[in-house]
Amino acid sequence: MQRTNPLAFDTGRFDERPERSYTLPAGWYTEPAVFEAERREIFGRSWQFAGHVEQIAQPGDYITVHLLDQNIFIIRGKDGVIRGFHNVCQHRAHELLAGSGNVKVITCPYHAWSYHLDGGLRTARGSERVAGFDAGDFCLKSVQIEIFNDFLFVNFVPEAVPLEAQAGDLGAEMRAHAPDLGRLTHAHRLTYELEANWKIIVDNFLECYHCPIVHPAFVELVDMASYRVVTHGIWSSHHAGPGKESNSAYDFSAGDVRIHAVWWLWPNMCFLRFPGSGNMMVLHILPVAPDRTFETYDFYFLDKALNAQQREAIAYIDDVLQPEDIVIVESVQRGLRSRGYDQGRFMAGDPSSGYSEHGVHHFHSLLAAALGGA
Ligand code: FES
Ligand SMILES: [Fe+2]
Repeated sequence: MQRTNPLAFDTGRFDERPERSYTLPAGWYTEPAVFEAERREIFGRSWQFAGHVEQIAQPGDYITVHLLDQNIFIIRGKDGVIRGFHNVCQHRAHELLAGSGNVKVITCPYHAWSYHLDGGLRTARGSERVAGFDAGDFCLKSVQIEIFNDFLFVNFVPEAVPLEAQAGDLGAEMRAHAPDLGRLTHAHRLTYELEANWKIIVDNFLECYHCPIVHPAFVELVDMASYRVVTHGIWSSHHAGPGKESNSAYDFSAGDVRIHAVWWLWPNMCFLRFPGSGNMMVLHILPVAPDRTFETYDFYFLDKALNAQQREAIAYIDDVLQPEDIVIVESVQRGLRSRGYDQGRFMAGDPSSGYSEHGVHHFHSLLAAALGGA
């Protein structure tokens, strides 16, 4: 794949008009150079999911988060303020905190430099004998943190526009569909390792053209005739009316949630509210290598104890829906390496159809803007 300048990968026959456009070239999914550019220009600049505010409810509570090759922690200070820092000691770069927990002081496990919860250097053994040592030069390096509908997001760019501003109406639309959002608590996590580029997983998430072929139970769970994909700035919504209460996916008749409402947020985040009792699921699609991706599926419910319907819904996702999609995306990864393929077409002639692929085109246009020099 040709690069005409350091930040411009060839977009081939990609076109701003979905009905005229080809998909991005196969090399975007396989080339290490694209992956490196994404690490810097996409994941180094966008808001990334980090957890839920309930995880750091008390002063001193912290969580650590790994995003590609970066390790950060988020901590609530004695003043109640939530702050984020690169998880690295300013002495000789040992990592400071591991996992999650509560601390009164942040102490480095290597030579025991200590830091206040606001990132200021507290003690550095022997520094009084070091010429010109200024503790003010050795504060922890901060990252931006934002609370978005009670979810924690992190951004490495100090001047990044707040997510709430970048995402426009997304926060309000989620709250309108999920008025119980503020009462939900983390109840379950599923994780997956996939042999596929992260963008194939996003592409697959953004269209239901494949649903009747790949997901026979899902097309009973939701009403495909009312399935709609609407694109907005850096996110898209995917909504459908209820399918059959009793279906081969799971029985949702006991719950209040009827509308299937799903949102994708640039570049790699999905929020899902499935039919059943009050819920929000967070799917985080984390790139590991050009052809490897780690997924976390976090389930937030009104109660930590799962009811029968929730257990059934989780089992459907884990045993049926995810395996159905994983087989697809791993096959596409192999296909994108084939010398017999480069660019396909979007089936996006009728964006009012639930089967249209204009949501995938929307994602590709954001990718092209980030890395295609457009
Ligand atoms: S690396 Fe942290 S105290 Fe030395
Ligand atoms: Fe799917």
